[in-house]
Amino acid sequence: MTIKVLSVASEVVPLVKTGGLADVAGALPAAVAPHDVEMTTFLPGYPAVIKALARPRALHTWDSLLGEKARLLGGKIDGHPLLVLDAPAYFQRDGGPYSDSEGRDWDDNWRRFAAFGRAAADIAGGAVKSRKFDLVHAHDWQAAMALAYLRFASPDGARPVPSVMTIHNMAFQGFCGADKFAALGLPPHAWSLDGVEYHGGVGFLKAGLEAASAITTVSPTYAREIRTPEFGMGLEGLIVSRGERVSGIVNGIDTGQWNPERDSALPAHFSLKSLPKRQANKRALESEFGLEPGDGPLFVVISRLTWQKGIDVLLECIDHLVGLGGRLALLGSGDKAMENAFHAAAMRHPGRIGVRIGYDEALSHRMQGGGDAILVPSRFEPCGLTQLYGLAYGCVPVVARTGGLADTVIDANLAAVMGGVATGVQFNRVTYPSLVDAISRTFTLYWQQDIWRGIQRAGMKTDFSWGRSGKAYADLYARLIAEV
Ligand code: ADP
Ligand code: GLC
Repeated sequence: MTIKVLSVASEVVPLVKTGGLADVAGALPAAVAPHDVEMTTFLPGYPAVIKALARPRALHTWDSLLGEKARLLGGKIDGHPLLVLDAPAYFQRDGGPYSDSEGRDWDDNWRRFAAFGRAAADIAGGAVKSRKFDLVHAHDWQAAMALAYLRFASPDGARPVPSVMTIHNMAFQGFCGADKFAALGLPPHAWSLDGVEYHGGVGFLKAGLEAASAITTVSPTYAREIRTPEFGMGLEGLIVSRGERVSGIVNGIDTGQWNPERDSALPAHFSLKSLPKRQANKRALESEFGLEPGDGPLFVVISRLTWQKGIDVLLECIDHLVGLGGRLALLGSGDKAMENAFHAAAMRHPGRIGVRIGYDEALSHRMQGGGDAILVPSRFEPCGLTQLYGLAYGCVPVVARTGGLADTVIDANLAAVMGGVATGVQFNRVTYPSLVDAISRTFTLYWQQDIWRGIQRAGMKTDFSWGRSGKAYADLYARLIAEV
C-alpha cells in the first residue's frame, strides 16, 4: 500500500532556496517514490511561490491561523504534489524567507513558523478531506512546531500521526520568549521540560525533537557528533536521551540537475571517459573570473560566508595558496567582513583571486565543471552538498573531517591512492596549519597528473545518487507507521 507522507519544509528547489535544505526537500519526493511513498511537500506561500502556482485551487481556509487569515493552495512541483500556505500577513513580503532585504531576521519569525507548523498539523490531522497522510516529515526548526501541535493540540480522539524530525543544522533552533507562549495556542501542559519549554522560553527545534517518533540527521557522523557538547549546541542531552530513535541518513544529489554530461550551464560537457574536455570549462571559468590562465590548480569555493564554513581560516591561507602557484575563484555571500576581506584579497592578488559576492546557481555549476578542487573547510557540516557536486563533476573536494564531509570523501592517503579509492583530501582541525597542509598536499597530488586523474575518476564513480538514502527514509516511514 502506498505510504502518504507530508513533507514540511520552509524552502524547496526550484521555488525558494537559501541552502542545502532546499535541495534535499526538493529531491526527496523523487527519492522515495520508487519505494511506494507518495510525498506531498508543504511550503510557505512566499511571493515567488504564489507566483509560480499555475491556476491554484483553494483546498482549505483558516479564518484565524494564530490570528491571521490563511488559505491552503494545491499545486505540483516537478510532477509531485505541492501544498502552499497562502497567508499574506506572514509570507507576502519582500526579502528572503527569513530576513528582510537588508539581511535582518524578521522579528516575527516565531509567529510565522509557528503558524506554518499549526497549519501542517491541521493538514496531517485530516483537515482537508481530499488529502490524507500517514506520516509527517518535518525539516529543521521552521517546520518543527508541526510536531508539537500534533502532540499537544490535536482534536480529542484523533488518531496519532507518526512523525520524523530531520535536523539539517543544529545551529539554527528557533526560539521565542515565554511571553509569546499564550499566542501559540498550545495547552498549558505543553509548557514542560519534555514539551516546548527551553531555557525559559519556547524552543522550536527542541519541541520537535521531543515530539518526533524518530529523529534523523543528514549523515551518520553528524548523528554521532550532535551527542556531544561541541556539536549539539545545547541539545546534546536531548539527543542522547532519544537513544536509538536518532539516526543519520546521508543526503544524495539530484542527478537530473547535476550531471556533467548534460548540464546546460557548462560550456563543455564531459564524462568519466572524457575528462580532458574539462579544460575548456577551466579556461572559460578563468576568463569569467578575470584570472590569468595557467597550468596550476584552480581552487573554487561556493559557500555561505560564515563561521560554520571556516571561511575566516581560509582567508588566512590565501597567500599560501597563491604562493604555491594556485588560483582561487569564490562565489558566496554572508558575513560582510568576510565579503570585504575577499575583495581585499582579490585586489592584493590580481589575476590570482577572483570573487563574486552573491548567489548564482548557473555559475555554481560552471565552477564545479571547471575548477580543479573545491575547498570546504567547515567547522561543522551536517552533510554538505558542494563536495558531492564536486565529486560528480571531477572537482576534487578538499574538506574538513567532520559530519557529512567525513562520510562522503575518502582521503588521498598513500593506501587509498594505491588502492584507487581516494576521492579527495581531508584534514583534521580547521586551523591555519592544517588547512595550509591540506592545500600543500593538494598541490603535490595535482602535479602527479596520473594520480590526480585517478582521484577525479574515483570521485565521479562514487554513488552519490539518492538510491540508498531514499530507501532508508522509506523503510523508516514504514517502521514508524507499523508501530502505531
Ligand atoms: P548549507 O546548506 O549549509 O549552506 P550545503 O553544502 O548543504 O550547505 O548546501 C549549499 C547549497 O547552496 C549548495 O547547493 C550550493 O551549491 C549552494 N550555494 C551556496 N552558496 C551559493 C552561491 N553563492 N551561489 C549559488 N549556489 C550557492
Ligand atoms: C544544512 C547543512 C548542510 C546540509 C544541508 C542539507 O544547511 O548545513 O550540511 O547539507 O542542510 O541537509
